[in-house]
Amino acid sequence: MLLPRKEIKSISEYIPGKSIDEIKEKHKLTNVIKLASNENPLGASPIAAAAYKKCVEKLHLYPRGSAPELAKKLAVKHKVKQDNLIVGNGSDEILDLAARAYLNKGDCAAGADSTFSVYSSVTQIAGAKYKAFPLENFCYPLDNLLKASRAKVIFLCNPNNPTGTFYSNRVIFDFLKKLPKSCLVVLDMAYIEFTGEKEPPLHKWIKQFPNLLCTRTFSKLYGLASLRIGYGVASAEIINTLKKIKPPFNSNYPAQIAAAAALEDTRFIEKSLKMNNVERQKLTQSLQKLGFEVLPSGANFICVKFGKNAAEIVAALESKGVIVRHLRSFGMPEWVRVTVGTPRQNAVFTAYLAGML
Ligand SMILES: Cc1ncc(COP(=O)(O)O)c(C=O)c1O
Repeated sequence: MLLPRKEIKSISEYIPGKSIDEIKEKHKLTNVIKLASNENPLGASPIAAAAYKKCVEKLHLYPRGSAPELAKKLAVKHKVKQDNLIVGNGSDEILDLAARAYLNKGDCAAGADSTFSVYSSVTQIAGAKYKAFPLENFCYPLDNLLKASRAKVIFLCNPNNPTGTFYSNRVIFDFLKKLPKSCLVVLDMAYIEFTGEKEPPLHKWIKQFPNLLCTRTFSKLYGLASLRIGYGVASAEIINTLKKIKPPFNSNYPAQIAAAAALEDTRFIEKSLKMNNVERQKLTQSLQKLGFEVLPSGANFICVKFGKNAAEIVAALESKGVIVRHLRSFGMPEWVRVTVGTPRQNAVFTAYLAGML
C-alpha cells in the first residue's frame, strides 16, 4: 500500500469560504454577495489591472524568481534592501517556507487556537507540533506565548483573523524584546493597513530583531487575491535561508507586475481604506442595534456573535445570496466573520439578517 508521511495523516484540508459560483448553483441565484474571504469589495486596483493586461505578451516566458521590479518598489516602501525581501505565491507560501526552513521534526511552534489555520498546518507538514493557546479576551495570547519557552517558531497574527483584534506597535515591540533570538517570530500583517495606525518601522525592527519575519499580502487591500502574491520582510540571514528552499518560479510574472503597479495606486488605496473605515463602523453599529455582540476590529472584517443558531443563520443568508463565514472551524461555533462590503452589500446583508430575527 502506498502510504504518505505519517505527519500528513492528522492534517485536514484547508476549508476556504464558499465561492459565489457554488452558492449560485446550489440556490439557483443570479446575484450573490460574498462577505466571507476578506477580499476587497471594490475589486482590484485599476492601475494593477491595466498592468496585468499588458503582461499577455510575455506569457510564454518564465518569470524571474526574485521578482525584481516588485522587490525594488517594496525595498523603497519599507526602507530596506532587496536582500531583506522575499516574494511569495501569496503570503501563505512565506508561512510554509518559514516552517519548512526552521522547524525540525519534533520541534514545537506556538500560536493561538482561534487564528489563521495555515500556521498549524504548515507546522504539522514540517513534522513539528503546533501548541495552540486560547485567545485572551478575544486577543492574541501574548502572555502565554512568552511562556512557550520551547517554541522554535511563534506565529503572531496582528490584526488577528478572525477576531479583528490587534495590538499597537509598542505592545508588539515589547513582546519581541522579551523573546529569545533563537525563536523565529512570524508576524503576519495581512490586515495591518486597516488598523488606521502608523505602520511599524520594519527597517528598524528587522535590524533589532534578526529573528523576526514579517509577512504581507496583496490579497486584501490591493484586491489581488486571485493572483496569489505576498512577501516577507526580514534580516538577510532569514531571507537567504527561505530563498534556498523556495520553488524557482514561485510567483508569476503578471502577479509581480500587477502588485508593483498596485503599490503606486494611492487613489485606490485611499478609497478602499476610507470606505472600509466608514462602513466597518456603520456595519458594527447596525448589528449592535439588532442586538448582536461585535468585537472591535482593526481589519476589513468584523467578528459577530450570532449565538447558538449561527450555522442556521449562515445557511439562511446563503439561501438569500449572502455568504459570510461561520467560525466553527476556528473553534468559535457561535461566531461569524463578515467582510466589510460596499454600502449596498452591507445594507443587503443587514436587511436580510434583520428579517430573520
Ligand atoms: C491572517 C492571514 N494571513 C495570511 C493570509 C493569506 O494571504 P495570501 O492570500 O497572501 O496567501 C490570509 C488570508 O486570508 C490571512 O487571513
